[in-house]
Amino acid sequence: MKAFVYERYGPPETLQLAEVDTPAPDAGEVLVKVLAASVNAADWHVMRGKPLFSRATLGLLRPKHQVLGVDIAGQVEAVGGGVTGFQPGDEVYANLLDHGYGGFADYVSVPVEVVAPKPANLSFEEAAAVPMAAVTALQGLRRHGEPRPAQKVLINGATGGVGSFAVQIAKAYGAEVTAVTSTRNLDLVRSLGADHVVDYTTTDFAQSGRRYDRILDTVGNRSVRDLRKSLAEGGKAAVTGFTSVPRLLSVSLRGGKDVTQVQAHVTTKDLELLSELIEAGKLRPRIDRRYRFADLPAAIAYLEQGHARAKVVVAMT
Ligand SMILES: NC(=O)c1ccc[n+]([C@@H]2O[C@H](COP(=O)([O-])OP(=O)(O)OC[C@H]3O[C@@H](n4cnc5c(N)ncnc54)[C@H](OP(=O)(O)O)[C@@H]3O)[C@@H](O)[C@H]2O)c1
Repeated sequence: MKAFVYERYGPPETLQLAEVDTPAPDAGEVLVKVLAASVNAADWHVMRGKPLFSRATLGLLRPKHQVLGVDIAGQVEAVGGGVTGFQPGDEVYANLLDHGYGGFADYVSVPVEVVAPKPANLSFEEAAAVPMAAVTALQGLRRHGEPRPAQKVLINGATGGVGSFAVQIAKAYGAEVTAVTSTRNLDLVRSLGADHVVDYTTTDFAQSGRRYDRILDTVGNRSVRDLRKSLAEGGKAAVTGFTSVPRLLSVSLRGGKDVTQVQAHVTTKDLELLSELIEAGKLRPRIDRRYRFADLPAAIAYLEQGHARAKVVVAMT
């Protein structure tokens, strides 16, 4: 089968299209014929081996996992021993972040605990856009308990992969959503359902005097002090992204019960919940750009610039 492989950390050009062996599903796994994938920040972090401390787990001198790709949608080709919930031909979507990556390939074996039936009303490309970003948004929003109707929720980075889902999910919970983005994306966040918008190029939400019950910071560019200052009494902030190692550390060191870092872990249960929201018409992935599989390095290079408008997907065919 074809896969993009890389043998050393570096820029997108280090990814090379190659012929590799098709995997066989182990017990508890399904072999998926990948029809679409989406690209995520995790892909370029792991591709570059950055931040450097992450190489302790990714591989000190060279990458342990030679095929990147965490988000996939496709068709079950075969099932491993003990698998009863899926059969060949089933249309599924899945996330491989906690299971060795491998999605940028014609086929990948995926443990059943991170696979779910593809939402019926989505194309494979749309479905591949969902798992990492939407589960991170969901788990970030629920980090301090489920959002309640009429709660004031601020999403920083509201037009990124995570943010574009977070706005819609917070609205599905009935929250009053303020979305922070740049001028060119104001209409986009409004179309996602945001009640209020803040243009970060002209206005600093932390200096506005407004207070929020919940903040989801998907960018990770704000200090703990700024986040705390923007919280209403009893309010809580969850941070999913980071823009530098000191920023990441400061959330761990200076945060507390009210400001916390979130590390998302995709589960079938969360994917099924997202499928319900999607099939009920409350959540819909937005696709910024579509790339052919052969152009995967260009897709990652685009995402790496940090200004994608929602999701970037790759079609295998
Ligand atoms: N903790 C976890 O488990 C987890 C999981 C997934 C992702 N992440 C992290 O979460 C972060 C976001 O991921 P993503 O997939 O959403 O990334 P992304 O799609 O690359 O985010 C790009 C978006 O960020 C916005 N942005 C850039 N600078 C901004 C600023 N100063 N203020 C507000 N918005 C700004 C951009 O809007 P403009 O173009 O308008 O600037 C763009 O829409 C990444 O750091 C990623 O590593 C963490």
